[in-house]
Amino acid sequence: MASMIHLIAAARPNFMKVAPLYHALKAASDFEVKLIHTGQHYDANMSDAFFTDLGLPRPDYHLEVGSGTHAQQTGNVMIKYEEVAMTDRPDWTVVVGDVNSTAAVAMVCAKLHIPVVHLEAGLRSGDRSMPEEVNRLVTDAISDLLWTPSADGDAHLAAEGVPAWRVERVGNIMLDSYELMSEKIATDTTMRDLGLTEGQYGVVTMHRPSNVDDKDTLTLLVDEFEKVSASVALVFPVHPRTRGNMEKFGLLERVKGINGIHLIDPLGYIQFMNLVKSSALAITDSGGLQEETTYLGLPCLTLRPNTERPATITEGTNKLVKPADLSTEVAKALSGDWPTGCRPDLWDGKTAARCLESLRACIAVGPANLQNR
Ligand code: UD1
Repeated sequence: MASMIHLIAAARPNFMKVAPLYHALKAASDFEVKLIHTGQHYDANMSDAFFTDLGLPRPDYHLEVGSGTHAQQTGNVMIKYEEVAMTDRPDWTVVVGDVNSTAAVAMVCAKLHIPVVHLEAGLRSGDRSMPEEVNRLVTDAISDLLWTPSADGDAHLAAEGVPAWRVERVGNIMLDSYELMSEKIATDTTMRDLGLTEGQYGVVTMHRPSNVDDKDTLTLLVDEFEKVSASVALVFPVHPRTRGNMEKFGLLERVKGINGIHLIDPLGYIQFMNLVKSSALAITDSGGLQEETTYLGLPCLTLRPNTERPATITEGTNKLVKPADLSTEVAKALSGDWPTGCRPDLWDGKTAARCLESLRACIAVGPANLQNR
């Protein structure tokens, strides 16, 4: 009989991690996959566009939790997913990334004794002021199996005392999505439609509470973007949190009026990657974009004091940059004074296949005997 797998999708950065695994599970006769959308992200351009671009079907269950405080969002996911999990009793549940829904679902599974695996385990920024860091710690502590993307993930878990048999390095699944969609990304016309020229612009994304929730910080960042835009055009697909705060702080009209900045709505996966692929550099506080730029060999300037993805710095093309240094660092990147980097081990577009092999091995021995697989 096919093993039932619940695959949890919640927010924008989850969808490109879920899609390759969904397609691989769907194609395998020994698995029955059910897709659960918690509804943490719900706007068409934060959710539906990704489902369409990544070939994902309508979810089997939609929990429709929406926005709220951290406790409301986490609690609502737990209450609603518990009902689904008790009805279906999946053989395994897969959670991805580090959003509130990830930790919520892992907690439900742990209490119902449903085996749960965390895809993208072991990442640590060391900064517990970030909600994602709390979600990572909780999820990794209670998941039965931990699929890591890179060697630093294995090392973090070992340092926390996690036994090696709970950890399996499968690589970076997001890059499977890039490879699956690479032809569509190459033929998409978003860059051309925006009047941009290959290699002549930077892509900006920004949504972390630490950068966008405080008026002075966001104002400083806008000042810096304005300076940078005098030397290179910037295209800025703006996250709803950031747009809301720009409006609240009276910055939105100012940004819209800056000549060198194209402020646009959030894009789907294919459109966004079309822009990134041909850009000169990225300026971001996103986790995923640090990895995608390393994969593509493009300079990434990360506006954060830390990163949970150190391989993008030690092996890739990423640097942590203070807002006040942004224009100097952009000048370096534009002049070629930047690490060329390489792709970390197992960032090869074949992670979903390794996840399936791992699941099969776990199912063969049973969840209570994972150390014997
Ligand atoms: C969430 C994740 C973050 C991830 C980010 C990617 C947590 C703690 N945070 O942050 O790790 O990097 O997603 O986008 O899980 N909103 C909309 N439409 C939507 C979704 C959100 O308008 O579809 C607005 C709402 O006003 C909401 C705000 O954005 O209150 C923030 O959304 P929320 O899901 O709470 O957190 P993100 O900042 O998106």
